[in-house]
This record gives sequence, structure tokens and C-alpha cells, in this order.
Amino acid sequence: MTDEIGLFDALYHCRAMRRLDTREVPEELLVKLVDAANQAPSGSNMQNSRWIVVRDPGVKQKLADLNRKGVEAYLGPQIENPGSLPHQPEAKRKRMLDSVLWQMEHMHEIPALIIACMEFGQKVTPAMAGSGSGSIWPGIQNLLLAARGLGLGAAPTTLGLTDPAAVAETLKLPETMAAYCLIPVGYPLGRFGPVTRKPIGEVMRFDTWEG
Ligand SMILES: Cc1cc2nc3c(=O)[nH]c(=O)nc-3n(C[C@H](O)[C@H](O)[C@H](O)COP(=O)(O)O)c2cc1C
Repeated sequence: MTDEIGLFDALYHCRAMRRLDTREVPEELLVKLVDAANQAPSGSNMQNSRWIVVRDPGVKQKLADLNRKGVEAYLGPQIENPGSLPHQPEAKRKRMLDSVLWQMEHMHEIPALIIACMEFGQKVTPAMAGSGSGSIWPGIQNLLLAARGLGLGAAPTTLGLTDPAAVAETLKLPETMAAYCLIPVGYPLGRFGPVTRKPIGEVMRFDTWEG
């Protein structure tokens, strides 16, 4: 049984939860997550998002291998030396990288990998794929919030999808579909805490940006 939390609590506590238990997630909850994703808006109300819930060990392993390639290529030297950002000190950045590496090592064991895709009705060109992202990310965020609301851990990931041909082959996508985000879902091993974001004064202005 899960205790659902309120919308604003979910918004402020929807951290990327990468460390997940191997315990199976009931199918009805996986369907509930995708149904929540499917309520999101899309450009011109095209409703062309598509969702693949991967539970098959062989397909999960292939996606885990693609993710490993993507993570290793992207992180490279940062693995040893995470550096820092103005809003993220080195210790926090190191903790984030550690969780990315944990996820990389355990991706194949995570109960469900949900792939957010778009169906274009014709062969996807890179330009079409680029323009599609505005209509898939609202659904992805819905799914993340729904997972948080149900006490499930989830995180948006893209590094495993950087080779579209390999992804299409793995997921048996027709040439009219493109994959945008891989969301591992499971029961959290860590605690849900609040997100840490830049202060509102830094990211918001009224009326015009420069006064
Ligand atoms: C477009 C996008 C791509 C992302 N790709 C990855 C990824 O490939 N692997 C990963 O572990 N996290 C990925 N993330 C998660 C971010 O690292 C995470 O949202 C950010 O660090 C904030 O984390 P927090 O919500 O826990 O504070 C991605 C997030 C977004 C929005």
C-alpha cells in the first residue's frame, strides 16, 4: 500500500532517485504512472507520446549496456574529479556522480525501465526529433511526479539514448518513432529529500529581464 502525497509536496521533493531496490513494482502502478504521463499536454494536441515499460531482463541488459557507454563517454575524467558548479559544491556533485555510477552498475536489475517515445507518423528526421521534445517532456515530468506521489523512485535519464540506431534496434522501434528519455522506476533505497534549486530571485523577473 502506498501513501500518496500532495502536489506541492511532490513538486518540492521530486529528486532524481537513482538508487532503487530490485523489488518488483506491481503492474497496476506502472500503468498508473504511464496513465498520469499520458494526461500531459502536447503541441496541437497531437497526443503522439508513446511509452514502453521494459521489464524483460534481456532488453534491460541491452539498455543498461547502452547507458554504460553513454555515462562513461559523458563523464570521462569527471569520474575521478567531479569539480563543482556555482550552485553545487564539490561534495554534493560527487554524491550525484556516485549515484549516477551506482545506477550505471545496477541499471539491469531495476524493476522497470520506462522509455518515453514519440510517434511521428513518418520517418523521423533529426529536425523532427528535435522539435518533438516539447511535447514529450511534460509527460515525463508528470510521470516523475506521479512516481513521487506513489512513493516510487524514478529519475529522467538520456545518456543511454545517445545512439538512436542501437536504441531503435533494442526496442524494435519503427522508423516513425524516436526515444527521448529512459526512466528507471523502483522502490527507493535512499530517502526522498527536498530538491535544492537556485533562489527564486536569481531565476525570475517581472515584466522584462533587464530593468
Ligand atoms: C534532460 C535531462 C537529462 C538527464 N539525463 C540524465 C542521465 O542521463 N543520467 C542521470 O543519471 N541523470 C540524468 N538527468 C537527471 C539530472 O541529473 C537531475 O535531474 C539533476 O541533477 C537534478 O537532480 P535533483 O532533482 O535530484 O536535484 C537528466 C535530467 C534531465 C532534465
